[in-house]
Amino acid sequence: MQNSDFDIAEIIEGTTKLLVPRESITEIVPPKEPAFFNPRAKLNRDFSIIAYSAFLKNFDGPKIFLEGLSGLGARGLRVSNEIKSVEKVVINDLNPSALEIAKRSARLNELKNIDFSENEICRFLSDYSKKGNRGTIVDIDPFGSPSRYIDCGIRATMHGGMLSVTATDLQVLHGLFQNACKRRYGGTPIKVEYGNEIAIRLILGCIRSVAGRLDIEFIPLFVESDMHYYRVYLKILNRPDQEENLGYIIHCKKCGKREVSLEKKTNCESCGEKNHHAGPLWIGKMFDKKFLEQMLDETKNFQVDKTCERVLQKCILEEDMPGTYYTLDEIASRLKTSPIRLEKIIEVLHESGFKASQTCLNPTGFRTDADIEKIKEFF
Ligand SMILES: C[S@@+](CC[C@H](N)C(=O)[O-])C[C@H]1O[C@@H](n2cnc3c(N)ncnc32)[C@H](O)[C@@H]1O
Ligand SMILES: [Zn+2]
Repeated sequence: MQNSDFDIAEIIEGTTKLLVPRESITEIVPPKEPAFFNPRAKLNRDFSIIAYSAFLKNFDGPKIFLEGLSGLGARGLRVSNEIKSVEKVVINDLNPSALEIAKRSARLNELKNIDFSENEICRFLSDYSKKGNRGTIVDIDPFGSPSRYIDCGIRATMHGGMLSVTATDLQVLHGLFQNACKRRYGGTPIKVEYGNEIAIRLILGCIRSVAGRLDIEFIPLFVESDMHYYRVYLKILNRPDQEENLGYIIHCKKCGKREVSLEKKTNCESCGEKNHHAGPLWIGKMFDKKFLEQMLDETKNFQVDKTCERVLQKCILEEDMPGTYYTLDEIASRLKTSPIRLEKIIEVLHESGFKASQTCLNPTGFRTDADIEKIKEFF
């Protein structure tokens, strides 16, 4: 079918003009034909723009952006148009209609540094996997799980470059289908209030297993959680990772005690009840403070949603806090009382000499090094 058979609308995202099927902005669920475009993923792309700009500003070397699953090119077109330091953008998709629309958008924005590729993503990325030919930033934004694309994504990212990966199979990552999660991510979740952190750590854990096989180390720079997706931004280093950063989150459903550990522990050290385990998953850091500050700086240079600034400010506060967070509702329901203000509990914890911060992963969530019994006391 020709794209002329479809009604195409022109919108602006950031400062980039995008041609999109009109139905993708009028229907609740954007159609996959003639090409997929989700207007609600604007925030996700806004974060990418500031993350990529911050990264490239501090990257010494060729500045090449490879997008493996571009759809009609919203992200790649924005990178090409809005990030001036980018030298070359290559966007790839299997869907020729999507690429045809992307080409028209590129002409509309008078973009000169963008190439188009119609290929299966792993074939596309394999063309860029030879040393000297790899991408500075590689972006993988699939429908569902990214697990099948991790190998080729890592291989196509140069030493010191960035790999960014989205997952949208939230039901799997949240424990509705444990076997599927084990298959895709190599670990299983538990159903808890901080399920999105477990999901992100499972994604990172999956990438860690593949990277380990390839003698590659990665450093998480930034992770993002949204109602409909999770996204991780990693710096790729061409050397083996000597750290042991795959382990478990151990959770006691009875008293609420939780712990991040390399090993499983059968019983709760606090109340003796049988523990639940999520993992194996990533137990290392999820944020890099310097990078978050650089991203925050970039928010001034782009037309991005104000949410970016707010989220990054929280990330900076929580970047060196312990893994797993508590929510006001969880503590209140354990104590059968009503929640107190988030600022208040953080203030009390600070006054008592504990570390405490909000978390970008949940509006009523907080991290602390105080254990659950102490938190209950302060409530
Ligand atoms: C979630 S959409 C990408 C959205 C896009 N990144 C954005 O920000 O608007 C996923 C895309 O992957 C494409 N796709 C699915 N499987 C593929 C494969 N194996 N190789 C290449 N493209 C594929 C689909 O045609 C679709 O356009
Ligand atoms: Zn317990």
